[in-house]
Amino acid sequence: MINKISTLGGYIHEYQKSVANPREFWEQIAHEFYWHKKWDKVLDWDFREPRIEWFKNGKLNITENIFERNLFTRGNQPAIIWEPNDPNDQNRILTYNELYREVCKFANVLLSMGIRKGDRVAIYMPMIPELAISMLACARIGAVHSIVFAGFSANSLADRIIDAEAKIVLTSDGAYRGSKTIPIKEIVDEALETCPSVEHVVMVERTREKVAVKAGRDHLWSDLMQSASHENQAVEVDSEDMLFILYTSGSTGKPKGIVHTTGGYMVYAAYTFKNVFQYSDGDVYFCSADIGWITGHSYIIYGPLLNGATSLMFEGIPTYPDGGRYWDIVNKYNVNQFYTAPTAIRALMALGQQFVENKGMPSLKVLGSVGEPINEMAWHWYHDHVGNNRCPIVDTWWQTETGGIAISPLAGIIPTKPSFATLPMPGIQPVIVDHEGKELAGRSVEGILCIKFPWPGMLRTIYGDHERFKQTYFSNYDNLYFSGDGVKRDEDGYYRILGRVDDVINVSGHRMGTAEVENAINAHPLVNESAVVGYPHDIKGQGIFAFVVCGELSTGGEEGIKTSILKAVSKIIGPIAKPDKILLVSGLPKTRSGKIMRRILRKIAEGETASFGDTTTLLDPGVVNEIVSAAQKLK
Ligand code: WT7
Repeated sequence: MINKISTLGGYIHEYQKSVANPREFWEQIAHEFYWHKKWDKVLDWDFREPRIEWFKNGKLNITENIFERNLFTRGNQPAIIWEPNDPNDQNRILTYNELYREVCKFANVLLSMGIRKGDRVAIYMPMIPELAISMLACARIGAVHSIVFAGFSANSLADRIIDAEAKIVLTSDGAYRGSKTIPIKEIVDEALETCPSVEHVVMVERTREKVAVKAGRDHLWSDLMQSASHENQAVEVDSEDMLFILYTSGSTGKPKGIVHTTGGYMVYAAYTFKNVFQYSDGDVYFCSADIGWITGHSYIIYGPLLNGATSLMFEGIPTYPDGGRYWDIVNKYNVNQFYTAPTAIRALMALGQQFVENKGMPSLKVLGSVGEPINEMAWHWYHDHVGNNRCPIVDTWWQTETGGIAISPLAGIIPTKPSFATLPMPGIQPVIVDHEGKELAGRSVEGILCIKFPWPGMLRTIYGDHERFKQTYFSNYDNLYFSGDGVKRDEDGYYRILGRVDDVINVSGHRMGTAEVENAINAHPLVNESAVVGYPHDIKGQGIFAFVVCGELSTGGEEGIKTSILKAVSKIIGPIAKPDKILLVSGLPKTRSGKIMRRILRKIAEGETASFGDTTTLLDPGVVNEIVSAAQKLK
């Protein structure tokens, strides 16, 4: 069993040990797992190359560490509690024994379809148990899962399938989301028109609506599972073999396929889960994220299940059938740890007290927050009304790239402070640098957050583009991992995340590149160019503000073109990328060298009307006033 830190002194001791002797520190934790063969070397690394290898030449299978390692003691304990979209539908509870059986069966299905170790499997599914079974079945046979959030468009799905050269897509007929039904299979069919690498599609029947079936290519999950054997020998993989690819947005170009490997990710996800949430045997843990994001990978599936925990998976949305749904789920299953995003907290807070008051929720012990900075008001509401003033909030900072939580309080152990992620996890060595890369040591400093030593859960490369990996994370500052976030360290040594310093925005906890949204807008035939920036939004954290230059207006005028821009963005990326505000302008503020001065646009989007700092390098300073007056007229 992984050692659980239980006091502040214990944390300080562990932290110091992890810095003074990281290899010994992580090796001790890794010994708690089941390996076919242990490593020859704990860590080999060079950030300049860059190359990161943990538990080198170790051999294992991560699913044996979830199942075989837990079955004797927890076979009949729920592994996954699945709560359906509609509270009146039947829930599903899968014990470790039952989940194991399903995973083995589906692993055999994948093998029968010719999927082998190293092959990429795209998964585009709603939050149903088969999604968990699918990913674990991939891991069972050493195949690499690439899960695509089911809110992305056909076009985005196709991009990801093509980039990963996936051979097979696992999906469902449809998805339930609150009162809506989403035609998942239709989206897959559209995507596959441009994906020659895909040989097979396996479809779970969820909504049982009629869908098109392509003979030879499409198979029903239930048919394949019916005849599959439940005996499956896990495939041995190397510690540094890929476990999964997960795409995320960057400041430029197409989404990046973040690569996580097996041994280090396993150790890190398991260790951070146990310690941050202070999970105890028998607890019921509920993370409301979607498995299509890293939070779901690490803290619905891998982290909890590696610890033999009971993890609650919810299909629906927080406002269906009403704004008390999360709290009803907490009470229905006596949830002990609840982990969600600030955007959900703010949305529920905005609905008023009636949905949360009188819910009681006496089982809750720990509340978690992730994905974006949590403002003080939301923090207090969460603390007072959800946690009844008695549950510590863990504000967890991390990224798709870090694989697991990197800066966070340990619940009940590190004293919290609203809007601070507080202190680094053992093994994380944060440094704050200025724009020149000079380290800002000591307390009370503000700058860019970097990490100077590898940790086992960190990404290893960008799929198919190691050079981009180097450029993105290791070229800005010498010998440091660059996070992309601004940060402040206060007089107590606590870290407060200030938000991105690059052209990445965070909308409702969804990470988006402004360039991606611009490309989608620019694809519209009447658009000449555009610039997208984030601006403060009460519920979403950041909203999307698009400044658009059109050649001419079609029939339908301004409103017509705005509507068709929204449609286009939805189609190219997905509804989550739709701009909140579109301002049609006659030109963008550019320097003489043609670079858009986003700094000015950000200020305008924030509502600034007069002070824009130095604008002397602008080619046409007049354009600023014009945009300001147009912005003032925008509702
Ligand atoms: C970006 C990473 C980590 C899983 C979900 C998001 C922002 C994340 C916090 C936090 C302030 C946060 C950062 C980071 N972020 N957690 N607790 N406080 N900001 O993963 O999609 O890879 O996004 O989310 O800006 O860089 P992601």
